[in-house]
This record gives sequence, C-alpha cells and structure tokens, in this order.
Amino acid sequence: MARVAIVTGGTRGIGEAISLALQAQGMTVVANYAGNDERATAFTERTGIRAFKWDVSDYDATQAGVALVEAAVGPVDVLVNNAGITRDGTLQRMDEQAWKEVIDTNLGGCFTMAKAVFPGMRDRKWGRIVNIGSINGQAGQYGQVNYAAAKSGIHGFTKALAQEGARFGVTVNAIAPGYIDTDMVAAVPGDVLEKIVARIPVGRLGQAAEIARGVAFLVAEDAGFVTGSTLSINGGQHMY
Ligand code: CAA
Repeated sequence: MARVAIVTGGTRGIGEAISLALQAQGMTVVANYAGNDERATAFTERTGIRAFKWDVSDYDATQAGVALVEAAVGPVDVLVNNAGITRDGTLQRMDEQAWKEVIDTNLGGCFTMAKAVFPGMRDRKWGRIVNIGSINGQAGQYGQVNYAAAKSGIHGFTKALAQEGARFGVTVNAIAPGYIDTDMVAAVPGDVLEKIVARIPVGRLGQAAEIARGVAFLVAEDAGFVTGSTLSINGGQHMY
C-alpha cells in the first residue's frame, strides 16, 4: 500500500514542490491549503493531487479536515508541516494581530496537525513528520520577531516530539530553508532582497525543488535513524 502523505500549504510555493516530490516517490499525496481557491484548483487539475481547505491555526477545523482526508484516502503516514505566513515589520510597528497570526499559523499549525495524526502513527508504529522551519528561526531577521520566534519554536517542537516518537517508529525532523524563489520572498522589497542575496555564498535564491529534495530524503522508508535533526538548505548563508 502506498504511504499517505499530507502537506500543509501544499498547493503552491515550497509546499507544491514537496507535494510533487512525494507523489514522484509513489506516495498518495493530499495537499492542504487555507486561502487561494483558484491556485488550489489549478494545482489539482495539473497534478491530480487532491486539495483540502482548512486553516491550520484553527484546532477544531484541523481535526475535522484531517478526519475528512483520512476518510477519503486512509490513515496519514507522512505529515509535512509547511504552511506559513509572514507579517513583517519592526517590533515598533508590529501590532498584536501580526504577532498572533504568525505564531498561530506557523507554530500553532504544527501542533494542531501533529495532534491530528501523531496518535495514529504511534498506534501503527510508523510515521514521518517534517516541519519546515527557517534560516530566520536559526539566525533571526530584522523585521521578523514574530516569524523568527515561530520558526525557532518549530525547531524546539521538532526535537521534543522526536523524543516522544522515537520508540514508536515515528521520526520528526526539520528543514531550515534559506531564501527560496517563492511568492513569500518576492514580497520582500527589491532593495532589501538584493542585499540579502548578496550575502548568500552560492550567489542565488534557492529553488522550491531543492527543499523538496530534503523532505524526500527525510520521509524515505530507510530514513528511520534520522530523527530530531535540522537540515539547513540555504546556499551557505548560515552555517549552523
Ligand atoms: N539590520 C539593521 N538595520 C536595518 C536592517 C538590518 N538588517 N534592515 C533595515 N535596517 C534599517 C534601515 O537601514 C533603516 O534605517 P535608516 O532609517 O536609518 O536608514 C531602518 O532599519 C528602516 O528600514 P526599512 O526602510 O526597510 O524599514 P521599513 O519599516 O520600511 O521596513 C521591514 C521594515 C518590513 C522589516 C523591511 O526591512 C523588510 O521587509 N525586511 C525584510 C524582512 C525579511 O527578510 N523577510 C523575509 C521574508 S521571506 C521569509 O521569511 C522566508 C524565509 O523563511 C527565509
């Protein structure tokens, strides 16, 4: 039986590349998304991967959404917590809503999704969870106290849950992407982005497929001894 994988924020950007990589690995993939219906419909038409809509920051909606997914395709074996948003601004200008939305989506989403799938993985003695962190959770970033805190939290979440899953065959790892060529990074003002790219030793933005490559490695059948780790994929921008 093909493994069942769910990728949050899986219909565009890094998430889309991850969905495609897991499909290419022979998994039955389902993509979650929260906002953009048009892009999700186009994604399903193009890839044949079903998309399910709910907001991962909403605990009840997430439990209900995962129940629907499991009724449609079977128990989830692989979870990729990729859904993430930015609300950049210096602390001086950041309001409480910008803080809460980012923490609740980026970090809270890992909790709501893990609550939905981890018990089943534990019972079945096999599971793979990959959480998408960020270079900015490792090193910090001007104008991102919310995002850096959430992503840094993801790295702690990963190491804690890895300890809980280990004896049940459930591995939990993180990837810390650097600056990747996506809509999120395109939203950074041009002059600011130019300075950031100038500090990347490889000399360019990363590609979403280069992050998906790391996910494919971590979720493989023979990756069972890799747990609690963080794989940095950032063109050498931050060596952690
Ligand atoms: N360090 C120190 N000072 C800095 C700085 C830095 N890195 N960046 C800006 N400043 C200074 C500026 O020089 C400026 O000072 P002066 O007024 O004395 O010239 C001051 O801070 C204000 O800078 P801005 O004009 O940029 O301020 P702003 O309020 O218009 O914008 C900002 C602030 C929204 C944070 C903007 O700088 C920005 O968008 N920065 C990029 C944030 C970023 O990298 N986000 C990543 C998004 S992608 C992502 O998150 C994916 C991932 O995982 C990697």
